Amino acid sequence: MTKKALITGIEASIPDYVLTNSELETLVDTSDQWIRERTGIVERHILKQDGLGISELGADAVRKLLASTGTSVDEVEMLICHTISPDMAFPSTANIISDKVGIKNAWGYDIGSGCSGFLFSLATVDAFIKAGKKKIILVCGERLSGITDYTDRNTCPLFGDAAVAMLIEPSEEFGLVDYDNHVDGIGRHYLYQKAGGSMYPATAETVARKEHFIYQDGKTVFKYAVSNMADVSVAMMEKHNLTADDVAYLIPHQANLRIIAATGHRMGLDDSKILIDIEKYGNTGGTSIPLALWDFKDKLKKGDNLILSAFGSGFAWGAVYYKWGI
Ligand code: UT7
Repeated sequence: MTKKALITGIEASIPDYVLTNSELETLVDTSDQWIRERTGIVERHILKQDGLGISELGADAVRKLLASTGTSVDEVEMLICHTISPDMAFPSTANIISDKVGIKNAWGYDIGSGCSGFLFSLATVDAFIKAGKKKIILVCGERLSGITDYTDRNTCPLFGDAAVAMLIEPSEEFGLVDYDNHVDGIGRHYLYQKAGGSMYPATAETVARKEHFIYQDGKTVFKYAVSNMADVSVAMMEKHNLTADDVAYLIPHQANLRIIAATGHRMGLDDSKILIDIEKYGNTGGTSIPLALWDFKDKLKKGDNLILSAFGSGFAWGAVYYKWGI
């Protein structure tokens, strides 16, 4: 039988500092009510300390994962990190995390695909599992607070920081059943970090223009997100003849409560089947789906049919049909 990528262990590292809506009211012209009603976010955790990158949280999550799964560093064959807020442009954050936790016999690299990143990374890991790898660690982590402008009310209420590490092993019965991932470059005009790359290298001027921060045309992204996330999730159900009763839970990317609700309702799911923790963590980019898997892991039962669904920068989006197997 074909092997599937199965998450056999999952751990998270969440920074202690809680940035509340009321603190944001002191930074920009906003209100707790506006943020709750328009996004569903109540608070988010951010990594405050200078000089700490996302590898700090990533390494912490990997150490917990090795301990909870009884895995030795020598057994790990690959470590892949998904992030759009790497410690540095290079070397890869995967490399830095491996060094911090003492993984020496593995190779790996970073993937960067914004909010759909977990879905794209899981598909990548699945290909390695099908090619014969037996123990891969996937870390999804973002320190989005480091690229967020806390004077811009359009973006600063949205984002949070976290890292999640997963041990992924082959399984015949459970794990990734199918994925349907998409990209459309039209999205590059609506959600981006303009400067700091090769097109606009960092200069005093790019910094003065605040071009190293996240820019988002929220209304446009919202319109694309709300239809594409629902379409791709419904299409995945139809492809596998899954009714709403067959789906145990939708675990959506946590960007906006209204997008999540629209997706769940198009799938015909009761609210109780839509797993939401946006109120606690905000939008943690490609980390939000694994963060929710970790957050709700006590609710999930072996064999549960899950639909994981995301939309984000690129545009890039997709849906995964996954059978929970821990
Ligand atoms: O995760 C990757 C993909 N990203 C997404 O899926 C995000 C998609 N977009 C969204 O979630 C929403 O568009 C936002 C939450 C970002 C914004 O919500 P919105 O309902 O689309 O608001 P808007 O940008 O259309 O702004 C409505 C009004 C504006 O005022 P006027 O022009 O109507 O007077 C904004 O200036 O709300 C104002 N506004 C705010 N007011 C208070 C914008 N931000 C704030 C704020 N506090 N923080």
